[in-house]
Amino acid sequence: KRVAILISGGGSNMIRLVEDMQGDHPGRAVLVASNDPAAAGLGKAAAMGVPTASVDHRAFKGDREGFEAALLQPLLDARPDIICLAGFMRILTPGFVQRFAGRMINIHPSLLPKYPGLHTHARAIEAGDAEAGATVHEVTPDLDSGPMLGQVRVPVLPGDTSEALAARVLVQEHRLYPAVLRRYAAGDRSPVLLTATELHPGI
Ligand code: GRF
Repeated sequence: KRVAILISGGGSNMIRLVEDMQGDHPGRAVLVASNDPAAAGLGKAAAMGVPTASVDHRAFKGDREGFEAALLQPLLDARPDIICLAGFMRILTPGFVQRFAGRMINIHPSLLPKYPGLHTHARAIEAGDAEAGATVHEVTPDLDSGPMLGQVRVPVLPGDTSEALAARVLVQEHRLYPAVLRRYAAGDRSPVLLTATELHPGI
């Protein structure tokens, strides 16, 4: 399966996905694209031999459709079977999402359906939750709300700052997303359910 990955910044999740696909894997990374030409992940993707593209969303102020039309060019040229959003921080229009219905997935740093949107870790701490985590889901027109493909649970520790929790969750995202993409690229949509203790007995 041809896999395109959309990023906005460092691309730590993209790196793990690309590295995992360099082994025996049903998917192959064919493009890494960003809404920010300065995204550090673009250089990392190029260094791993993956073609890259970028469309500066700031050049399309207030013209979401125009930005998406520009992003669509390199995306369609790559002929992806699957699109992974990985730290991609732009909201996509229903029209764009529908075009890739059933083959676009995203990782969100909360235990959806809790805390869609931003500042997820601060909200979990504020609510006094004992657990936080990350969710991989299919992308549908409603933000952060498509069918769940994977979830990893992480303990919230006393005195956690949102930065500390974010770092603990990010480590688990890097295990969850590759596991989900392997299964999804093989045509299996059954959810991957992980807990940090399974992966990090030391927590
Ligand atoms: C992180 O906050 C991660 O939780 C979320 O997107 C942000 C950047 O991820 N998925 P990445 O390092 O660019 O993959």
